[in-house]
Amino acid sequence: MSQSANNLRHFIDLRDFTLAEIEDILRLATEFKANPWQNHLKRKHVALIFEKDSTRTRMSFEVGVNQLGGDSLVIDGSTSHIGGKENLYDSAKVMSRFIDMIMIRANSHDSVVGLAQHSEVPVLNGLTDYNHPCQVLTDIFTYIEHRGPIQGKKIAWIGDANNMANTFVHAAFLFGFHLAIATPLEYQLVGTVQRWAAKQKEAGKPGSIVQYLDPESGLAEAVRDADLVLTDTWISMGDTDYELRKAVFSPYYTVDAALMKQAKPDALFMHCLPASRGQEVTDEVMDGPQSVIFDEAENRLHVQKAIMTWLLQFGLAARNTDNGG
Ligand code: CP
Ligand code: NVA
Repeated sequence: MSQSANNLRHFIDLRDFTLAEIEDILRLATEFKANPWQNHLKRKHVALIFEKDSTRTRMSFEVGVNQLGGDSLVIDGSTSHIGGKENLYDSAKVMSRFIDMIMIRANSHDSVVGLAQHSEVPVLNGLTDYNHPCQVLTDIFTYIEHRGPIQGKKIAWIGDANNMANTFVHAAFLFGFHLAIATPLEYQLVGTVQRWAAKQKEAGKPGSIVQYLDPESGLAEAVRDADLVLTDTWISMGDTDYELRKAVFSPYYTVDAALMKQAKPDALFMHCLPASRGQEVTDEVMDGPQSVIFDEAENRLHVQKAIMTWLLQFGLAARNTDNGG
């Protein structure tokens, strides 16, 4: 659970939030999209730490912090001591003396959790090997913006059951939508995520997930009557089994126009990007009328500004409590 004893809140996993809290963040994102210039981060510094490459996350956070009146420091993980020769406890304590908020894109999810455990300022997860909550919340914001409430809708995930797919499983039980995943046996959801989903079902939470593991029939089953179709790269950052992945995914796991036709006529297409056009998705779908990929990319800015602003109220309260104020 990413909440410290002093009420500090972090943004590491969608499972740490109630639906009401997430809806507050989405409302704020709508406000910021209409009125981008705000003062919520005035005289505040946000560290943006990258252990992996990024285009969208880096730009949207840098611009977002600036539009909120704050300053950002982009830190290349490979040229700092964080997660290297300095332990996470020392790094977290030191950063808390300079910085008001930390965004980190990390190789290992444990690094983000460890950093948050010791940090005295809010920590945001900008992608790990396990999840990508900023992106998935943005995808949901984008869906709602185009089509209205996502509760009860059918979402199809095609391809690797990766960090994005894990986060969609978490989101399915938070928002109450139905997630159909077409994925090969070799790259299906990890056991911990499958077991967590089974527990939500047993507890009677709204929402559901189903995996279709047959590559011949699974894609059509997943997209049938879907309201939203998503895919992602076959090879995520940090994956090393490149040849095997290509062999398993390339004969079947491409979202093309014929597959999109099997979804609802008004179904949307999303991809978190970067895409390998011609592999997991065709140009025709990427550039077609159902695609909202560039709205999706833009919305990272508005949603993350809302997350930072929402977290700041807890960050400030924690600091005031520490100071006896
Ligand atoms: N979607 C996303 O997180 O993109 P970047 O890797 O470019 O940040
Ligand atoms: N699954 C991809 C997402 C990139 C934004 C990766 O982890 O590389």
